[in-house]
Amino acid sequence: MAGFFLVLEGIDGSGTTTQAARLAARFTAAGARVVQTCEPSRGPIGTHVRQLLRDGATGTPTDPGALALLFAADRLDHLAREVEPALAAGAVVICDRYVLSSLAYQGAFLDVDFVERINARARRADLTVFVDVDVPTAAARRAARGLPADQYEVDELQARVRRNYAAFAARPALGDVRTVDGNGGMDDVERTIWTAVETVWRA
Ligand code: TYD
Repeated sequence: MAGFFLVLEGIDGSGTTTQAARLAARFTAAGARVVQTCEPSRGPIGTHVRQLLRDGATGTPTDPGALALLFAADRLDHLAREVEPALAAGAVVICDRYVLSSLAYQGAFLDVDFVERINARARRADLTVFVDVDVPTAAARRAARGLPADQYEVDELQARVRRNYAAFAARPALGDVRTVDGNGGMDDVERTIWTAVETVWRA
């Protein structure tokens, strides 16, 4: 059976990490083999990017163009190391963030066509779900989590990123993108996402 590459997207605090775990359980219950992963990846480039983002919150932020290239480099490295082998083995790969994150976040600082171009070698996801959450709701969830913020976790920027998500979701290069209202309770959101995902997966 061919693999299925599913991506979850949203602003910081939109619940994609929780929803990825719940989707993984749904797919497993439906008999699929699931690989759950994320970007920035846990590989060497992704680990470096996470460190740069943490440093950027307190010190000098990395040049936006350099960061965009690092996110894109991590993506190709992540595909080669983890995603492509899992898909080739027939797994459902659930990835927390992918190309649309780069368009939405790096597109807040850079020409989006440049960001799209440097990501042109990354394979298209079979389905991207944008979990759309209001900025104050997402901020409250981040505060409840109590983790140290990275350099993007500022409400004004999150509002811009959210607008970018809505604007760039329709870019043809991304393939199938569905927007889901993520403001409700986690159970409701899970059901809405699963309904959208299952239809595409079984098609
Ligand atoms: P995130 O998923 O929030 O990691 P964690 O849950 O460990 O904090 O990702 C870290 C940040 O990276 C997040 O603010 C979004 C940002 N990001 C980009 O700006 N561009 C990208 O291409 C990706 C994948 C993430």
